[in-house]
Amino acid sequence: MTLTPNRLSADRLSADRLSADGLATDGLATDGLTSEADVEAFVVQRYGAGAQAVEAALCCPVDYDPRFLAVIPQEVLDRDYGCGDPSTHLREGETVLDLGSGGGKIAFIAAQVVGATGRVIGVDMTDEMLGLARAAAPEVASAIGFDNVEFRKGKIQDMRLDVAASEAFLAEHPVSDFAGLTAYEAFGQQQRAERPLIADASVDAVVSNCVLNLVAHEQKTSLFAEIFRVLRRGGRAVISDIVSDVEVPPQLRADAELWSGCISGAYQEEAFLQAFTDAGFYGVTLDKRDGAPWQVVEGIEFRSVTVVAYKGKQGPCMDHGQAVVLKGPFSSVVDDDDHVYKRGVPTAVCTKTFDILSKAPYAGMFELLEPAEPVDPSTAPVFDCAPPTAAATPVPGGSARRQVAGLVSASGTAGCC
Ligand SMILES: C[S@@+](CC[C@H](N)C(=O)[O-])C[C@H]1O[C@@H](n2cnc3c(N)ncnc32)[C@H](O)[C@@H]1O
Repeated sequence: MTLTPNRLSADRLSADRLSADGLATDGLATDGLTSEADVEAFVVQRYGAGAQAVEAALCCPVDYDPRFLAVIPQEVLDRDYGCGDPSTHLREGETVLDLGSGGGKIAFIAAQVVGATGRVIGVDMTDEMLGLARAAAPEVASAIGFDNVEFRKGKIQDMRLDVAASEAFLAEHPVSDFAGLTAYEAFGQQQRAERPLIADASVDAVVSNCVLNLVAHEQKTSLFAEIFRVLRRGGRAVISDIVSDVEVPPQLRADAELWSGCISGAYQEEAFLQAFTDAGFYGVTLDKRDGAPWQVVEGIEFRSVTVVAYKGKQGPCMDHGQAVVLKGPFSSVVDDDDHVYKRGVPTAVCTKTFDILSKAPYAGMFELLEPAEPVDPSTAPVFDCAPPTAAATPVPGGSARRQVAGLVSASGTAGCC
């Protein structure tokens, strides 16, 4: 089922400035964005308005599974400002965090996928969007027979901060002098440490639909670090977003309406994938990439992609005598840690890499070779993550793995931790 074609013609976008049908942007300042605060204020204004009146210009059409839409109130479906469907990657029983949950559509779909044993937390910073989602939640709960969704107010680049708690503090202790500011800062520090909005390693999956591009550029590194922080080891991020084919130039970056319209805050596509790697994820996969651009602005293509990335490669590299064989069809592949695997060549790996290669997204790509005699983990040696010069050296005998002719080490330049 295709939801509302929230599409603005490329012609209209290319012409002068985007006025978004005079709908959500009425009365908004349209000066250039010069600071992170500008970005945030403009995004809040635009999506506050977009929660009240449907804005056809925001984000692109998506085919959601109609089975999951049936229980979602129409006013939420009408305010679909997404560009993909990360919920297709969720599983029963999982705890899911939806970044920039808006009217709650993805959270409500996720609630049905994870079922009564799972739970879903939506985070958004716009009161009107939170109001829309919270008002719809009881209707969804009664239709599906369980209540497993909640919506929290927060900034996705700073998910230790409970914004509602901070607002309550400020209402009681308005800041008018330096002492007041110090008290507010102390409250914030304590609250972050003792009652974070989203705790470390507390969710199985982080999903997001067309939101990361809206975060100020200076805060995007913190945003990725936060996604990584809240995921448990073994968890994954599934992010649908808009990316550009080339880097967005400064004059477009400064355009408040193009920014809040999910365009000029977009990552260049390759840089988007790199941001996951830089944050510590492995197995970064371009799961879906729209061939046709959603918009073309000043010759730059903006399209929707869905990326899946996994957490769990950090930690020591131990040698349990294991090896893998790349099945093909590529003659060789290199992973994010510069491990090289040649088709048909038994390749020694540390136990952490062995474990990672045995499951998604690599499952089925490698033959997994265990040693004839299991290695006692308590006495296992450290795996040699030496540079590639040593990697081509066959490892001498001792285990079944080591008796495989031509065995090489997959050691990379930087190890895998
Ligand atoms: C394009 S809409 C997408 C809404 C929803 N994911 C959907 O699929 O319809 C962006 C949403 O992200 C929220 N948002 C934008 N930047 C945010 C930030 N830094 N922190 C929290 N929420 C943010 C906005 O308030 C808005 O509700």
